[in-house]
Amino acid sequence: MRLSDVPGLTQLALALALTVSFLPTAGAQESQEQAIERRVNELLGRMTLEEKVGQLNLVSHGPPLRWEDISEGKAGAVLNFNSAQDVARAQALVRESRLKIPLLFGLDVLHGFRTQFPLPLGEAAAFSPRVSRLASEWAAKEASHVGVNWTFAPMADLSRDSRWGRIVEGFGEDPTLGAALTAARVEGFRKGGLAAAAKHFAGYGAPQGGRDYDTTYIPRAEMYDTYLPPFRAAVEAGTASFMAAFNALNGEPSTANPWLLTDVLRTQWGFDGFVTSDWVGIGELVNHGIAADGAEAARKAILAGVDMDMMGQLYINHLPDEVRAGRVPESVIDESVRRVLRTKFRLGLFDRPDVDSSHQDSEFPSPESRQAAREVARETFVLLQNRDDVLPIPSKVRSIAVVGPLADAPQDQMGPHAARGHKEDSVTILEGVRRRAQNAGIAVRHAPACDLFCRNTDALPAAIEAARQSDFVIAVFGEPQELSGEAASRARMDLNGKQIEVLEELAKTGKPVALVIMGGRPQVLGPVADRIPSILMAWYPGTEAGPAVADVLFGDVSPSGKLPLTWPRATGQLPLYYNRLPTGRPTLANNRFTLHYIDENVAPLYPFGWGLSYTHFAYSDARIASRQLDEGQVLEVSVTVKNAGARDGQEVVQLYTRDPVASRSRPLRELKAFEKIALKPGETKQVTLRVPVESLGFHFDDGTYLVEAGAIQVFVGGSSLADQVGEAEILKTLRIPPLERRASVSTGVAQ
Ligand code: BGC
Repeated sequence: MRLSDVPGLTQLALALALTVSFLPTAGAQESQEQAIERRVNELLGRMTLEEKVGQLNLVSHGPPLRWEDISEGKAGAVLNFNSAQDVARAQALVRESRLKIPLLFGLDVLHGFRTQFPLPLGEAAAFSPRVSRLASEWAAKEASHVGVNWTFAPMADLSRDSRWGRIVEGFGEDPTLGAALTAARVEGFRKGGLAAAAKHFAGYGAPQGGRDYDTTYIPRAEMYDTYLPPFRAAVEAGTASFMAAFNALNGEPSTANPWLLTDVLRTQWGFDGFVTSDWVGIGELVNHGIAADGAEAARKAILAGVDMDMMGQLYINHLPDEVRAGRVPESVIDESVRRVLRTKFRLGLFDRPDVDSSHQDSEFPSPESRQAAREVARETFVLLQNRDDVLPIPSKVRSIAVVGPLADAPQDQMGPHAARGHKEDSVTILEGVRRRAQNAGIAVRHAPACDLFCRNTDALPAAIEAARQSDFVIAVFGEPQELSGEAASRARMDLNGKQIEVLEELAKTGKPVALVIMGGRPQVLGPVADRIPSILMAWYPGTEAGPAVADVLFGDVSPSGKLPLTWPRATGQLPLYYNRLPTGRPTLANNRFTLHYIDENVAPLYPFGWGLSYTHFAYSDARIASRQLDEGQVLEVSVTVKNAGARDGQEVVQLYTRDPVASRSRPLRELKAFEKIALKPGETKQVTLRVPVESLGFHFDDGTYLVEAGAIQVFVGGSSLADQVGEAEILKTLRIPPLERRASVSTGVAQ
């Protein structure tokens, strides 16, 4: 199967453009968008109130959906229809309905459909919009092959708290990285044939205590500065829809939050697609204590700007009566229906042929999708430490012990939300190492040492024996899939079970040990960071975990991932992030009355943006093009990067800034631009990173953006510890009202 064999939205948009240009009415000058608006309004004019509300109803496969609801016009969108046969049956029923309005078929296609790519947090470690586009395009191609046309992704929720299990579904802690990759994912999904839903709007990634679904308090200025930029980037990239979050934000549940859904999303950002609730999110307004019953919940949600009710049945059951009773103006319903219909027209659904019911997801993984999954996965691995250059595995090694239950965990390596992933398709780390070792005539022994959750260590002696008999030990431990994802918050992030004990015993053998961590968040490593010299964070690498991990362990490819979040030493440090504000009492050794814990080092174990390679990079000759910056100008910083080692490698060149004296405390560092480059040994490249002056300020609670005159410090390097390379001066203070603010994605992120 080749990309060109699958109808993507590009082709559909073309078909739509052709259809529209031959429409009879409307005059010669009618644009495509005008033609869509005309068709939307014509259709809307023919709809009964019940049919309108039907368009706002999103129901899952199985109860409460009855198949006849589709032919009766009572569902505008469905979810969890995963096979072409079911999609085709639903599409046939649509044609029996009075108005024949096509359905949206939604699904959580997050990191692959049948072929599993790394989870988004791992994908973020690639620091590469190109990689993110590639992964999401593949996910979309496979899903759209069986008729899915809408994904509940990307998750644009930034999070600074890895206790929250869903941190694995997003891009970590940084707004610039999050915005760039959210946009790339929206584009990739579209290219592969899926409309996107940016979720969960908003603040869902900062629940108190890291507890999924718990309440969130984020000042509005901080929402604008930190949590909203990835969502705004989704709008700029053309996301078709948004999903409202479960959480209450500053006491106002997101599902009935007019500030978020109307003032910010529609008025300030100009978004004209539609918003769906999350699963029964409207009904949960009763639990939130802002609605007495389902009718009031439906009323508050639609008036705030939620257009579609996912699985609540509250719109379909209550909105017609709410309108008839005069509590909800019909014009509000009309506007929501318009947004849904507009999206369907834009996607070309009215002009699309039905899915071919003979299509099967089992046509994947194909050799091409496997190759793409392997290429993406190996960009995501982060080499956290590599004392004594234990990795890559030296060529003199003749035997390897692969130890740990996650080395042979075909289900777990796919990670949570694996859509139609089948563990039978997975190539495990054990298998990948075996294949690669066989080519080199290296013997491989496998010993799990303990069960998946590492509670039972009866098998430890056999693992120690295998290690003793081998020249090299690859230990694969971490977090089974069940401990990550939705509803998987953790109060203790330590390597769970008896993993520490097992790893200490392995270290005692005196053999070189490389630890590969699989998991959806940083693990608290405790003594392991000292005992094990080499640690590679592999996240959940997906279907091709084995070949990708082997590529990196054996040194066929150098690791190039960088941490998209700060790695703590202890769970009690959370929330922890690099772009924090200064304190009046910065940490001073031996002075407890400064920023300190009395029982733990206050610094993270590994900082944001961190990741080693098998080669090393020398930075020199950093230059700021113009040190004085006026309105409309760009801070342009160039630096020379040399591969000063003996192997091929890739480096993520990162630019951070700080406003050291402002009217308000500003972060110690903020990532503003980055670019990933590949260098051969000895090769040198000049990298130029650009940041518009209009991206060097901060927001007020009302959305006004202020760029203050004065000095801006500039740091460039391979992590958030980058050295300061100079200072620029902003000449004039700029005050930009919310309606004039350009998208925050317009930073200098190389595509
Ligand atoms: C999740 C969403 C998801 C939805 C549909 C909810 O529980 O919060 O992220 O898209 O289910 O599966």
